[in-house]
Amino acid sequence: MQTMHRVFFDDSARLSFLSDESVHLVVTSPPYPMIEMWDGAFSDRNPFIRDALSEQDGDAAFELMHEGLDRVWRELFRVLCRGGIACINIGDATRTMGDRFKLYPNHARILHACHNIGFEVLPCIIWRKTTNAPTKFMGSGMLPAGAYVTLEHEYILILRKGGKRSFITEEDKHRRRESAIFWEERNRWFSDIWDVKGVSQNIENASSRARSAAFPFELAYRLIQMYSVREDTVLDPFLGTGVTAVAAIASGRNSVGVEIDDKMESLIRQNISSAKAIGNACIVQRIQEHADFISLYTGDKGHTKHQNSVYGFPVVTSQEREIRFYLVDFIAYSEESTKHAASYYPLENQLRLSTSMQSVISNAIPRSE
Ligand SMILES: C[S@@+](CC[C@H](N)C(=O)[O-])C[C@H]1O[C@@H](n2cnc3c(N)ncnc32)[C@H](O)[C@@H]1O
Repeated sequence: MQTMHRVFFDDSARLSFLSDESVHLVVTSPPYPMIEMWDGAFSDRNPFIRDALSEQDGDAAFELMHEGLDRVWRELFRVLCRGGIACINIGDATRTMGDRFKLYPNHARILHACHNIGFEVLPCIIWRKTTNAPTKFMGSGMLPAGAYVTLEHEYILILRKGGKRSFITEEDKHRRRESAIFWEERNRWFSDIWDVKGVSQNIENASSRARSAAFPFELAYRLIQMYSVREDTVLDPFLGTGVTAVAAIASGRNSVGVEIDDKMESLIRQNISSAKAIGNACIVQRIQEHADFISLYTGDKGHTKHQNSVYGFPVVTSQEREIRFYLVDFIAYSEESTKHAASYYPLENQLRLSTSMQSVISNAIPRSE
């Protein structure tokens, strides 16, 4: 198996290099309107935003910033296949403009726009990001009634183009069955509140900006596992540091990333080159966690009804019988087209070859009798 990972340094309001219905999943996080770190980037693209901000007209600036993002959402709708899903990570903003402090509800504005474009809005995820910062409470402190609730969550909006995706050919159905997730992962990942730790934001020495605004690998990896199958194409129109590309490589999916700031290139390349280590460690960890789960589950229930046909380990449901893991073998980079090719081999080949991996798996998973 081989996957391709292309990066375009361009404006994602025009994805002319992508044909209609060529993408299966979008995982992304745009610059957040009304968060000061992005004022310059939004204003460079539309000078009326700079004017609105300098006139302290928060409502006008908010709307103009979103009109810029709306163009990207329209392009996503065009390039997604029928039944394809877009996962958009976004936080609301709070800000004082003039003498008024208020909330700028980015998530609601994006949902409204995407609904008008034609997306079906699905239940979303609240990503809890608690902070212990002593300065986290705003306003009048202990005195009523001028204190404000602290925002300690972001959203992952989930949108679909058209109805459920169909898997028609035998080959498609097979890839889908191999890409299933474990029952216990389904129970955690399909809950509406995620407690996933954020990542260090400091990229001062590596890029044109001081903070990455990156989401964690785990967030992109889960979404890719939940909403796509092996060898699908995943798009991130706001690639940033390249986390979505790394998670796509780790998941055996193709990816396309678009980033307007070409100063991010070396950081993206550096991150992509670490995808083999990150991805393969992630697969070992998933299997170990499955083993821990199975020993608790079988302790309670005595046995599982089903067994995975590739590795022989116990699973809870028949849908997990064909789960198969592909490890990254190598990642090659091609300069002319800013493209990486990742090659894979199935985990069971590694089991035959290497005693170290074998001992990880066999220590972790008691084979069912
Ligand atoms: C919130 S960051 C994304 C971070 C990314 N999820 C990660 O994990 O590193 C948004 C990114 O979108 C880029 N960007 C902003 N406007 C863009 C546009 N119109 N087209 C493409 N990229 C854009 C910014 O330069 C920034 O890197």
